[in-house]
Order: sequence, then C-alpha cells, then structure tokens
Amino acid sequence: MSTGSPRVLPAERGIDEAAAVLRAGGLVAFPTETVYGLGANALDARAAARIFEAKARPSFDPLISHLADAADLAALVGEVPTAVAALAKRFWPGPLTLIVDRPEIIPPIVTSGLDTMAVRVPDEPSARALIAAAGVPVAAPSANRFGQLSPTRAEHVVAGLGGAVDVVLDGGPTRCGIESTIVDARGERPVVLRLGALPIEALAEAVGLVEVRQGSSGQPVAPGTLAAHYAPRTPLRLGAAAEPGGARRGFLAFREPPADGDWAAVEVLSPDGDVTAAAARLFDALHRLDAAGVTEIVAQPVPETGVGRAINDRLRRAAATWH
Ligand code: TXA
Ligand code: MG
Repeated sequence: MSTGSPRVLPAERGIDEAAAVLRAGGLVAFPTETVYGLGANALDARAAARIFEAKARPSFDPLISHLADAADLAALVGEVPTAVAALAKRFWPGPLTLIVDRPEIIPPIVTSGLDTMAVRVPDEPSARALIAAAGVPVAAPSANRFGQLSPTRAEHVVAGLGGAVDVVLDGGPTRCGIESTIVDARGERPVVLRLGALPIEALAEAVGLVEVRQGSSGQPVAPGTLAAHYAPRTPLRLGAAAEPGGARRGFLAFREPPADGDWAAVEVLSPDGDVTAAAARLFDALHRLDAAGVTEIVAQPVPETGVGRAINDRLRRAAATWH
C-alpha cells in the first residue's frame, strides 16, 4: 500500500482542479453511478501506466475508457457497428460498457494490446463534467487494488490506494454500487462479457436474445472474469441464513438477519428484498464486514433476477478466492 494521502475534494467543486491533474498526466479517482473509477488521460500511455502501477494490476487486464457524451464515440472511433450504436443510444449515459475497435489514438497499454477497446459514458454528472473539462477520454478501472473490493465511497478509495492517487473527488456513495455490464455487440448476437449494474433483462428487451459468457477462467482478456476477484480480505463463503453463528464470524444477509443472533457482525442488504437496493449496498457492506475483525464472512446468495445475477456473480468470485 502506498504511503501519503491524496487530496480529497468535493465532486462538484473539484472538477477544474481534477481536470488539470488529468491533463498533466496524474491520477484522479472519481465517482460514477457504478463504483469509483481511477482515472487517467486515455491518450497518454505514461498516465495509463500509472493506473496499472497504483492498482498493482496485471498488464493483461485492459481498461475501460470513459467519455463525457455518447456523441463523442463516433468522434473517437469513427464508424461503429449498428447494434453497438443502438445500445449506446438506448443506455448511455448509463452502466453499460461497449466493446469497439481500438482507434490508433488510444495507446495499446490502455487495451492491454487488444485491438478492441471498452468504452462507456457514466451516468453521473460530476464524472461527465470532469471528462468534458479534461477534454480527453478518461481510462478508469475501479479505484481499488487489483482483486480487492470495488470502492463505492471516497473513503474506500483513500483507504485502499492512499497516496498512489493524486486527487479523489468525493461525490458520496455511488448509486448502483456494482460495476457496469460489459457487452460485445459487434457480432451477430450481443454477448455479455461481465454481468453488472444494467440487468440483462433490460438488454434483452432492447436487443432480443443476449448470450452471457462468464466464468471463463484462465482467459484473462475476458473482463473481470478471473475467478478470484472482488474479494474482501476476510475469507468468504456462500451459506444460508439457517447456519449457526459464531463470535468471530460475520453474515451478509439479503433481506433479514439470520435466525441465530450469535453472529459477530451482520449486514442486511435490503430489508425490502429489492435486488437493486441490495447491489447499491453490496460493496459497502463487504467493506464493513472486512473491517469488523471477523475470521470468516458467510454470504447468502440473493434472488437470481435483475442485478441479483451480478451480485451472486461477485459473491461467487469472492468465495472462489478462498478455495
Ligand atoms: O462500472 C465500471 O465499469 C467501472 C467504472 C469506474 O466505470 N469500471 C470498472 O473497470 O469496473 P475495471 O477495470 O475494474 O473492469 C473493467 C473490465 C476488466 O475486467 C477488463 O477485462 C474489461 O473491462 N475490458 C476492458 N477492455 C476490454 C476489451 N477490449 N475487451 C473485453 N474486456 C475488456
Ligand atoms: Mg475492478
């Protein structure tokens, strides 16, 4: 972990200063509607290299570039396939990342040498204002060290990355709480490469059948799909609310606390049983359980509908880290 601490500025008032840092090749963590991103100028190979360094991220894991406006896509990459353009039109700004051909102007380090690039327009006004003020596409992975929990609050970023980041824009807790859905719509049928905050039901409604390709282990160009990912430091496994508790164990519940009151720490994601609300609290709850000093976290899977799929996907990956 890096020493020192970043400058933390309120998101609305720090835009100009943060944009100047980006233009100068620095790193700015900023809120999006999904999670906080660790941003750098996507046209600057050296700035992008700093992202990999700050996160201790393997160079084979490509970054998502962020644009201020959907209209900027054509300006950046030229012609885009019809289905890609249709999805952008329908869901941007929003938690959908699309795969396009990498234009020459984007240095290969950003895409880990792939001839494709991932791109999205975040649905968070301060993020779009920052990107617009910087005047460049902003490469930004989630602002956490590689393999660890994604940050949904500025405090998570500061605790995880410290002085490795120059400026943190604090916009409070993020709305969706889990990362964007990644879709490759260049081929005949759109393929979901990572489940995320845009439910596949919404995608299917817009474009018909979608294929979900996930859990492909060992093929690192597949997004966020390394089996071990999104993990707390505390060992986590999937379990049921009927389990007996324990003085050193924590429980992550979907809608109600477990029957046995003897757990050291309990987090309930959504008392209303709403998977979208649960997603918004997921990483925050895991960060808290991680900080509670328990020796094991037992996590209850949520209903497999809407973003519930993406929540379960992350819980399974976190659990896989500890097997
Ligand atoms: O919601 C989000 O997507 C957040 C916010 C900050 O926008 N970003 C995010 O970035 O989750 P990151 O780096 O944690 O995850 C991006 C994923 C990676 O797992 C990477 O493998 C995949 O996107 N990816 C990037 N470029 C790709 C490409 N050309 N083809 C396939 N997957 C790609
Ligand atoms: Mg990430």
